[in-house]
Amino acid sequence: MRLEVEITGKTFKSAAGGTHEVLAPLKFALQSGEVGVLIGPSGCGKSTMLRIILGLDDDFGGHVARPPEARIGMVFQEPRLLPWRSVEQNVRLAAPDVTEAKLSELFRFLELDAHRNHFPGELSLGLARRVALARAFAVEPDLLVLDEPLASLDDALAGRLRDEIATLVASRPMMTLLVTHSLDDAIRLGDRLFFLSPRPARIVQDVPIAIPRAMRSEADLGRIRAELAALQLESK
Ligand SMILES: Nc1ncnc2c1ncn2[C@@H]1O[C@H](COP(=O)(O)OP(=O)(O)O)[C@@H](O)[C@H]1O
Ligand SMILES: [Mg+2]
Repeated sequence: MRLEVEITGKTFKSAAGGTHEVLAPLKFALQSGEVGVLIGPSGCGKSTMLRIILGLDDDFGGHVARPPEARIGMVFQEPRLLPWRSVEQNVRLAAPDVTEAKLSELFRFLELDAHRNHFPGELSLGLARRVALARAFAVEPDLLVLDEPLASLDDALAGRLRDEIATLVASRPMMTLLVTHSLDDAIRLGDRLFFLSPRPARIVQDVPIAIPRAMRSEADLGRIRAELAALQLESK
């Protein structure tokens, strides 16, 4: 499977009748098994781009080719759980065909066993994110979209969740698109990094990481970080 994104532009109209240009022309593709990471300043248009890619916003210039049969898993910036449904019901509603075995495996892996019957209002942000992740993986997605899944968590929690996301992503040959502010998360989780400009977003650097994700040592990560720092300086 392959996702092809070619956006020629996206604007929002303001209430006063003006236009607000959010995306500049940009183009990229992702294959199954590949993790693309979008890195860009706050407000540059990342969430807008994800909505377009998911088909939730069709008011844009350009074209997105998504395999029509692709199952989609999505973790929004806010966990967006139904507040009057339990954790388990939230996942089952999104993935009606999920087996009990799959559900148990996901809940165990994401440390949600004790929270199956809790309601979203009873959960911390970290736990709510885990539920959103369980919901996204329960559909066994072909295209997984993660919008800042580690934002606003303390370092220890974010690190643990990042490792769990890495394991889940490696468990299926999906196309994954991840938005993050963290270069460290990007180089641990990604195969290709797309650095975006301030609004209107365009891709200023498209950086593939040659070493397979699971084989990157701390020394490799340090070297990649240094290479990226040099690139960033050149692009300024
Ligand atoms: N529905 C909308 N109507 C008008 N402006 C919007 C809407 N959604 C987002 N924007 C504007 O588009 C820009 C990009 O927003 P967003 O895609 O959420 O950025 P990011 O996810 O990169 O932080 C911001 O200036 C934001 O205010
Ligand atoms: Mg956003």
